[in-house]
Amino acid sequence: MVNWPELESKYYMHTIVRVPVTLVRGEGARVWDDKGKEYLDFVCGLAVNCLGHCHPVVADAVAEQARTLIQTSNWYYTIPQIRLAELLVKNSCLDKVFVCNSGLEANEGAVKLARRYGHLKLKGAYEVITTMGSFHGRSLAMTAASGQPKMHEPYVPLPVGFVNVANNDIEAIKSATTEKTCAVMLEPVQGEAGVILSDDDYLKKVREWCDRRGILLILDEVQTGIGRLGTLFGYELYGIEPDIMTLAKGLGSGIPIGAVLAKEHASVFVPGDHNSTFGGNPVTSAAACATLKYIIDNDLPAKVQKVGQYLMEGLKELKKKYSFITEVRGRGLLVAIEFNRDMGQEILMACLQKGLLVNKVKSSAIRLVPPLIIGNQEVDRALSILDGVFSGIVK
Ligand SMILES: Cc1ncc(COP(=O)(O)O)c(C=O)c1O
Repeated sequence: MVNWPELESKYYMHTIVRVPVTLVRGEGARVWDDKGKEYLDFVCGLAVNCLGHCHPVVADAVAEQARTLIQTSNWYYTIPQIRLAELLVKNSCLDKVFVCNSGLEANEGAVKLARRYGHLKLKGAYEVITTMGSFHGRSLAMTAASGQPKMHEPYVPLPVGFVNVANNDIEAIKSATTEKTCAVMLEPVQGEAGVILSDDDYLKKVREWCDRRGILLILDEVQTGIGRLGTLFGYELYGIEPDIMTLAKGLGSGIPIGAVLAKEHASVFVPGDHNSTFGGNPVTSAAACATLKYIIDNDLPAKVQKVGQYLMEGLKELKKKYSFITEVRGRGLLVAIEFNRDMGQEILMACLQKGLLVNKVKSSAIRLVPPLIIGNQEVDRALSILDGVFSGIVK
């Protein structure tokens, strides 16, 4: 049998410490490793495979499109891309769409759009305010945008034009706003920081401030969009509308795709301002159309609310039972369990051994981001595995 980790260490750049398992097949909320062991997948490609692994509507859309037309470049009109833009606009508060290939690219596009807006309407303003703990991607600009000093250090000097301020603090945004500011960019729930929710009225206050100053509000919904929080988009939970929104992760249920959406007044790109060779390619767009249609036709956000609540109730019971759990938090199916010490890796490994994939989002917390199609039965199984794992932990 091939030793895949050994082969990987010979040929692949080590940019991540991998979980020691080689996955070869998936179906719904389950995956199998190269030795045939089955796992319940509460990571789902890092909050990506929202319809589970290899959902037939996605697999069929990709296969059919791959036999029809794969790539043309954006010099030509292609139907899946236009259909995708139509679907996104008809189901959101935004008016125009640009399709790209990943979350960081969507955020780069959003920041470029905000800078164009700044050049055209705000006397050249170019600065974007972001928050500490945020994660917006790993290009140089998105590294600077992400409010995480440990990400910055290896790559200084970073592109200018980003100001990182305290999270959930409207006064910090107000004091950082100057005549150079063109936008504020936020995640409705900070996913990579460990599932940090926005305070109830925070986003409303930010929206009001942006309106007062005539600057744009960009919501990075790369992780929170496409049903994950129990609404199709996260902004719906907070009673506000962004000027620009970015999507990726769940949009193609595993097929790499991202999108920038903008309100008409913020949609200021003109031909030549921005493009992408692969962006909105027929195959990825067909996958995203199939995913979105399935989510909307089956009202998955409503189901996510219910199953998310069921999961949260079960986790709260576990918190009562195990004193080393300090907090369970989240919305819908974006959930974290926080511990009183750095035991995320120990929990991850014990879950792996018992057949449950979870994500260590920080050293003292794990994140659960199962597919949106799971039911109470899968939740019960995950809770029972977690209970078994926690019962083996020395308090
Ligand atoms: C909120 C948010 N923005 C952007 C990104 C970057 O997306 P990608 O990894 O597709 O570039 C992520 C990835 O985790 C994310 O969670």
